[in-house]
Amino acid sequence: MAKLKLAVFASGRGSNFEAILKAIAAGRLDAEVCVLISNKSDAGALEIARRHGIPALHLSAKQFPSQEAFDAALLEVLARHEVNFIALAGYLKKLSPTIVQAYRNRILNIHPALLPAFGGQGMYGHHVHEAVLQYGCKVTGVTVHIVTEEYDAGPPVIQRCVPVLDDDTPESLAARVLEVEHQVYPEALQYFAEDRVRVEGRRVRILPKPIA
Ligand code: GRF
Repeated sequence: MAKLKLAVFASGRGSNFEAILKAIAAGRLDAEVCVLISNKSDAGALEIARRHGIPALHLSAKQFPSQEAFDAALLEVLARHEVNFIALAGYLKKLSPTIVQAYRNRILNIHPALLPAFGGQGMYGHHVHEAVLQYGCKVTGVTVHIVTEEYDAGPPVIQRCVPVLDDDTPESLAARVLEVEHQVYPEALQYFAEDRVRVEGRRVRILPKPIA
């Protein structure tokens, strides 16, 4: 398997994107971020990319006459940057089936809860943590999953638990979950970099590390 040549898609501040860059710099993730794509012109993630000298593109379906034209432009950008893997990091738009099919089993997303609980359309950012507290959950967590045509519905690659404390607010819970997000996203990507991921229906198997 060739080295991961990543496109990161982000709509917001980009702390997961930054965690990916840190993991690469620290040698924990064998990958290169070839391009950062955001649907929001004021996304913090664009600024982070520029600071690191990574091509940063504002690309939104609104700039194109049709979904097909947008998809064609996206695919062209991905091909131009020789992208072989996509990491969604706080990207609030659904990828069209055209993109999902072009990168089948090569797109990951990170979600700040244990899917399938607290997922789906509208379940993002503080909404997730508010719903977890509202339900009275004692545990929540992080899911890194393969992206399919449905929101938050692809098979999990890593799930990790995070405790909910009695006096948590959505903010304190979000902060505890985010710390774990920053650990597990690079870990999940590294499994792909090492070609240790086997997708068998809904089950994702991680092969053991070969003995050196
Ligand atoms: C994270 O909580 C991630 O799980 C969710 O959106 C948030 C993005 O945060 N998909 P950031 O932009 O990476 O800081």
